[in-house]
Amino acid sequence: MERRNPKVAIQRGYAVLTADQARQIALEWLKAGRLENAIALGLPEVDDRYHVWRVPLLGGVSGERIGEVVIDAYTSLVVENRSTRFDVLEARLLGRPPEGTPISRRSDRYLLSSLRNIVALGDCEEILMELPAQSVDLVFTSPPYYNARPEYSEFLSYEDYLDKMRRVIRQVHRVLNEGRFFVINVSPVLIRRPNRQGQSRRLAVPFDLHRIFVEEGYDFVDDIIWVKPEGAGWALGRGRRFAADRTPLQYKPVTVTEYVLVYRRRTDKLIDWNIRTYPDQEAVRQSKIIGDYDRTNVWYIQPAYHPVHPAVFPLELAEKVIRYYSFKGDVVLDPFAGVGTTGKAAWKLERRFVLIEKEPAYVDVIREEILEWMGRAALEVLYFNCDPPQVRQGLLF
Ligand SMILES: C[S@@+](CC[C@H](N)C(=O)[O-])C[C@H]1O[C@@H](n2cnc3c(N)ncnc32)[C@H](O)[C@@H]1O
Repeated sequence: MERRNPKVAIQRGYAVLTADQARQIALEWLKAGRLENAIALGLPEVDDRYHVWRVPLLGGVSGERIGEVVIDAYTSLVVENRSTRFDVLEARLLGRPPEGTPISRRSDRYLLSSLRNIVALGDCEEILMELPAQSVDLVFTSPPYYNARPEYSEFLSYEDYLDKMRRVIRQVHRVLNEGRFFVINVSPVLIRRPNRQGQSRRLAVPFDLHRIFVEEGYDFVDDIIWVKPEGAGWALGRGRRFAADRTPLQYKPVTVTEYVLVYRRRTDKLIDWNIRTYPDQEAVRQSKIIGDYDRTNVWYIQPAYHPVHPAVFPLELAEKVIRYYSFKGDVVLDPFAGVGTTGKAAWKLERRFVLIEKEPAYVDVIREEILEWMGRAALEVLYFNCDPPQVRQGLLF
């Protein structure tokens, strides 16, 4: 293809005369696809054989060329059918292989993920399908609470809830790298009595999920008990009856713990293999946990509160899990991200993150708060199905 000095634009009488003008048009086009913060523009070139400007689009971790915008030099309009489509750009940013490429990445080497930081709005079961196989190095999450009351629950029944969890756990298995960990914070759920004659029930959600994990190809590794300071569960009312009349059989302890269950994606390789074959041995050294650490499976941590979200986990909990189960630079996924606590901890500890949340109100919180915890870098995050954060004057820098 013949490419000429931009002076040719003047000789030909084009409407688009300079590289800056071409860039501006390309930027507006990217904005229409909400990709302006995820993609950088390369040097525009005029191609006077076809009377167009070509603007390279750069993205991904290494800023490689992932497409181009073609602009009609006479009309200054983007030639849509000759420019790289938005969905193709998004797929390339996510590192998804082109259609037809075999998914399997089984090898004797551990493969470093090329995923960038992502905040995605939507159902994680669907969004996970967009991620490449084995592109995540750690999962830390707390699943939605099952509520038996139809007016609060999106699930028809507890079985329906477990089915959904199974489908998500299965999808996560596909994206999780070989031999790496899925850590889940989960607790039994109290189903209040329907009326004065009825009984309250507790659903043993962690034990039901355990079976699903094992069936879906994970090995059980540890059950860590997160202990909250005493008094934490008293408000639920459980235990008050016994406290008053002390009759045996009525005994019900106040719950001050939650489970942090640790699973490993099943493999015949030892954890030592994960460490030895990790391609970035400097990251392994840099990630060593120096000084004090939790020597037992009982972790004492204050619960957290958030003004918008009713069930966030503490940043300290996410930090411990990420420190113990990942290396610097790893990708940490939270498929039920809430207000993004996992992402905040991952960023603080120099890991990458993939946050998926289906409630727009919580994604809005992430988009608002991300500027506080990431600063300028928040503009380079890939926002999938949602707008990038709004930068207000004076807030960022
Ligand atoms: C227990 S909260 C997680 C809170 C989070 N750990 C934090 O600190 O903010 C579970 C979250 O999962 C979200 N959720 C439920 N079903 C989902 C789905 N199918 N896909 C993505 N998110 C979902 C809920 O909206 C809720 O915010």
